[in-house]
Amino acid sequence: PLRLDIKRKLTARSDRVKSVDLHPTEPWMLASLYNGSVCVWNHETQVNKHSSSLMLTTCTMKINNSKRNLYLWDWEKKWSCSQVFEGHTHYVMQIVINPKDNNQFASASLDRTIKVWQLGSSSPNFTLEGHEKGVNCIDYYSGGDKPYLISGADDRLVKIWDYQNKTCVQTLEGHAQNVSCVSFHPELPIIITGSEDGTVRIWHSSTYRLESTLNYGMERVWCVCGLRGSNNVALGYDEGSIIIKLGREEPAMSMDTSGKIIWAKHSEVQQANLKAMGDTEIKDGERLPLAVKDMGSCEIYPQTIQHNPNGRFVVVCGDGEYIIYTAMALRNKSFGSAQEFVWAHDSSEYAIRESNSVVKIFKNFKEKKSFKPDFGAEGIYGGFLLGVRSVNGLAFYDWENTELIRRIEIQPKHIFWSDSGELVCIATEDSFFILRYLSEKVAASQENNEGVTEDGIEDAFEVCGEIQEVVKTGLWVGDCFIYTSSVNRLNYFVGGEIVTIAHLDRTMYLLGYIPKDDRLYLGDKELNIVSYSLLVSVLEYQTAVMRRDFGMADKVLPTIPKEQRTRVAHFLEKQGFKQQALAVSSDSEHRFELALQLGELKIAYQLAVEAESEQKWKQLAELAISKCQFSLAQECLHHAQDYGGLLLLATASGNAAMVGKLAEGAERDGKNNVAFMTYFLQGK
Ligand SMILES: *[C@@H]1O[C@H](CO)[C@@H](O)[C@H](O)[C@H]1NC(C)=O
Ligand SMILES: *[C@@H]1O[C@H](CO)[C@@H](O)[C@H](O)[C@H]1NC(C)=O
Ligand SMILES: *[C@@H]1O[C@H](CO)[C@@H](O)[C@H](O)[C@H]1NC(C)=O
Ligand SMILES: *[C@@H]1O[C@H](CO)[C@@H](O)[C@H](O)[C@H]1NC(C)=O
Ligand SMILES: *[C@@H]1O[C@H](CO)[C@@H](O)[C@H](O)[C@H]1NC(C)=O
Ligand SMILES: *[C@@H]1O[C@H](CO)[C@@H](O)[C@H](O)[C@H]1NC(C)=O
Repeated sequence: PLRLDIKRKLTARSDRVKSVDLHPTEPWMLASLYNGSVCVWNHETQVNKHSSSLMLTTCTMKINNSKRNLYLWDWEKKWSCSQVFEGHTHYVMQIVINPKDNNQFASASLDRTIKVWQLGSSSPNFTLEGHEKGVNCIDYYSGGDKPYLISGADDRLVKIWDYQNKTCVQTLEGHAQNVSCVSFHPELPIIITGSEDGTVRIWHSSTYRLESTLNYGMERVWCVCGLRGSNNVALGYDEGSIIIKLGREEPAMSMDTSGKIIWAKHSEVQQANLKAMGDTEIKDGERLPLAVKDMGSCEIYPQTIQHNPNGRFVVVCGDGEYIIYTAMALRNKSFGSAQEFVWAHDSSEYAIRESNSVVKIFKNFKEKKSFKPDFGAEGIYGGFLLGVRSVNGLAFYDWENTELIRRIEIQPKHIFWSDSGELVCIATEDSFFILRYLSEKVAASQENNEGVTEDGIEDAFEVCGEIQEVVKTGLWVGDCFIYTSSVNRLNYFVGGEIVTIAHLDRTMYLLGYIPKDDRLYLGDKELNIVSYSLLVSVLEYQTAVMRRDFGMADKVLPTIPKEQRTRVAHFLEKQGFKQQALAVSSDSEHRFELALQLGELKIAYQLAVEAESEQKWKQLAELAISKCQFSLAQECLHHAQDYGGLLLLATASGNAAMVGKLAEGAERDGKNNVAFMTYFLQGK
């Protein structure tokens, strides 16, 4: 199936709707009602913008058969009638102009025929007969490849006609009442039909398979309108109008490691290359000015496109089929039927899910193994191990011999493996888990057969963390897991910490990371590409820290720009490496905090001198007292002008000279309470 997602965007109750139209640029729907009113709805704000009664000036036809004839009106000549087309013997219900030839049009009539006309000729060019009752509606196919017309009639049938050889090529059966509207979608490979049975049916425009039946309980359907370049479809009913959104939310796009992006615009495949931008300056979150190259059209309607790990091939999936193409020239290399397709970590391997029970593994485009996972196969996941989802959970298999590695009680949505195969993220409906794959333990268990249960190898994985966030798309750079979340944040996770790179203003899908550019690339469903800077040196440093490899971390540090040092220092601090954080940070506030926490009096003193802040002197004084560094404490309290503190220090240490000095200072500064106390204590 096409697996189109269908979402209702607007429901507008009103009197019977006889015609709907979508504005080409504004989010507006125009509906004309049987009672003579027209309404404009804004389908983004759901507001009825405007409604008014039309003053219709009806041209009174003093001509016989006015309802059977067609009239051409010239608006440049004050709407005079410039031509009459005669031929139908009953009411004419609809006409449509051929989008490929504006001099030709077709008409549908209750006389059970469809007639095709040429402007300039008053008699029909030809007649299509086949419906057994009146024909209500008609539409031309606008795609380039087929000379087709579609019609719907009171015989409850929908017919597709080849108007060149004038034959009916297909009859669509299913509606339980008169068919009132038909439409070839201007872009999606679908036919939409509406009927007095209250349903809207969606059919595949090449296979003619019924994809979906929609019943919104608004009584009879009267009209349908699709729009080029949009996934919105407007429907008119007895009780109002509805806008539905058709199509896949996630765009079919993929980027290889060198920055070549391939995407599908409906069935057309296009390519853009990041390298071709040259030295154009790029700002975070800004749409990239990419030159787009057409690569031809795909034989299936692509729902996903995915490069293999080395980027030489792309697989296009959709409609229960897959086609593997060369990424450069889009030449097909292999194809077949599959519910799902995943690439292995090894670029020459892939797996397909043939049905809910059979999974097949291919190597070098040849079938290597077909197997039936124990609890069925509801979904498969590629990468380092082959993941198979069933109602019981997730099972990981070895690509080589399809041996069970580990069964995990989880219902994954996505699985992302790091390049090294050491880390894996399993994302579910509401959270994600980071696991470490312990390949040595797996190898040992396989060797001596210890620790192996019916759920596989017990020690195969170790849980590193669970985070209550919904991952939409993700990828690994070293040991950092970068992802977009359901609340449109672009984050990365490293060592138990989540760092937010950006707040996105719309849903974006991660395409990849190019280390050379220090940038992360994302696309949206309108196929815009944006990027965000993310320094590879920072990621490398953080990865080294997480591995406790401080030798490596020290080597990477000089490559991190100064302005990023503090961010890195905060990361170190959160990991508990305060000493390292103090050494790395370039923010004096942060360094002072760290120095206090570490009890580094000298560094803290230096920073307090530089900052000349009373607050800092007070904090340092407290630390000095706790460390019994009384002379330092005294100096700090002086700088902080903390007479209370000085009094406490002087009296507690029984330092009469200090009390004497304090008395003078306090009196001079008008600190009368302290001055009184000090004189009193001295018996003065
Ligand atoms: C027609 O119906 C619409 C909505 O149902 C209503 O707002 C409008 O007043 C009606 N117009 C007439 C002329 O009855
Ligand atoms: C309309 O048809 C009637 C009967 O067929 C005929 O008598 C009359 O002249 C026609 N009127 C016109 C305007 O053609
Ligand atoms: C129909 O139109 C085509 C041109 O579009 C013309 O060649 C042909 O002669 C016409 N046939 C009739 C019966 O008028
Ligand atoms: C007419 O053309 C269609 C393809 O559009 C083909 O399937 C059909 O067989 C043709 N019919 C005749 C009678 O040539
Ligand atoms: C379907 O059309 C017929 C005329 O062909 C009409 O009599 C009938 O009432 C229509 N059905 C519905 C449900 O309106
Ligand atoms: C694959 O390519 C061949 C040769 O160009 C073509 O005949 C065939 O239809 C293609 N098949 C698919 C599924 O794209």
